[in-house]
Amino acid sequence: MTKLVIDEFKRTEESIKSRTYPKLIKYMGSKAKIIDFVSESIHSVYDGGIVCDLFSGAASLSGALGGCYPIHANDIQSYSSLIASVYLKPIREINVKSLMEEALLNYINAKSSITLDLSYEVFSSLEQFNLIEERNRELINVNFDHEYHLFVKNYSGTWWSAEQCLWIDAFKQTIDSKIGRGEFTEADYALTMSVLLHAMAYSSQGTGHYAQYRDAKTQSSMKDINIYRKKRLQELFEKKLNQIIIWSKENVIDLNHSITTLDYKDCLGMLEGGTVYADPPYAFVHYSRFYHAMETLSLYDYPTLQIKGGSIVKGRYREERHQSPFCIKSQVSGAFEDLFLGIKKSGSNLALSYSNTAMISLETLLDISKRTLNSNYEIWVEGTDHQHMTMGRQNDRSRDVKELMLLARKR
Ligand SMILES: C[S@@+](CC[C@H](N)C(=O)[O-])C[C@H]1O[C@@H](n2cnc3c(N)ncnc32)[C@H](O)[C@@H]1O
Repeated sequence: MTKLVIDEFKRTEESIKSRTYPKLIKYMGSKAKIIDFVSESIHSVYDGGIVCDLFSGAASLSGALGGCYPIHANDIQSYSSLIASVYLKPIREINVKSLMEEALLNYINAKSSITLDLSYEVFSSLEQFNLIEERNRELINVNFDHEYHLFVKNYSGTWWSAEQCLWIDAFKQTIDSKIGRGEFTEADYALTMSVLLHAMAYSSQGTGHYAQYRDAKTQSSMKDINIYRKKRLQELFEKKLNQIIIWSKENVIDLNHSITTLDYKDCLGMLEGGTVYADPPYAFVHYSRFYHAMETLSLYDYPTLQIKGGSIVKGRYREERHQSPFCIKSQVSGAFEDLFLGIKKSGSNLALSYSNTAMISLETLLDISKRTLNSNYEIWVEGTDHQHMTMGRQNDRSRDVKELMLLARKR
């Protein structure tokens, strides 16, 4: 494996100012709201080299600090690499008009293969609305002849209507064709795919993730779901694409950034020095379940869907999903120990976000960090209010502070 090395990269006080950046998706545990605290924490341990965002998620760090440090963004989920690229990799010219025209043709073509009436235009009762929902969901049993049918088959009537799914497939087909014909670079591909993730998120009838879609059980939930059924995904896509292209051209500079889709231990194995920002999961729910539909768009691999009791599970999850040790109570201590060992071995400094949930206590985390990094590192904890917490005193105060940072700097 190649080592991630970069020439000494020194910062001045002015150059670490974070930039404003457009958010693309809604993401559980995103640090967008406390990005200044994260940025200052990184700065307090940084002594040159790259900043590795080890669990990059929705890539808020790349968004905010991509103009300040050479960043290496990593996450086990492949959709994260698409989003990181938006903030880190310069694009070429993207012709929005030609993209939209080609997507429309692909959409019309695919739509012609569906003879059922799946529209939400006419219904006068909850029962009728649910019949339309059911007809949309039934598409999972149809055998489609055209190639790009993953979403219309698997997700119609779930988070999206068949109509919206047809557009998702049509955009994916168009983006793939553009890459195939050499009209798109990798960065153009990642940017347009990320905009598609955005359009999916803002037309979805779910609550911001894809763990469960909502059922229309009452008039009021039906009305609310129907608001999303009527959203024009193609318009959300086009509007955001135009905005992001402008932002990208004005803001993205390649400071030799890099992006990987690796398990955190493998990523740490590639590092030589620099500073690691680690924001692992702190809940027992797996990101791979909450965001499976984004992973499926990114991989577009027609996954086998999970079966329970002989039928496909309601959430239509991919069968192959990453199970993070940070989300499994019996594995979480070992996962942090591996994290600290990887930091020590790579000779990096560390800023570790800590959220006060039931997965692991701050006391245990500090014990593991001290045991693993021992005398080679100075270790301390800070809160969003900039209170420096010494080992003796922090136990009480840390209970009231939700977001904390464990900092470890090489002596
Ligand atoms: C709290 S989120 C990170 C949020 C991110 N800092 C942001 O602001 O959007 C945790 C991330 O860890 C990733 N993850 C979980 N287990 C992982 C592993 N073993 N290796 C790499 N990434 C992992 C998840 O996919 C998820 O995106």
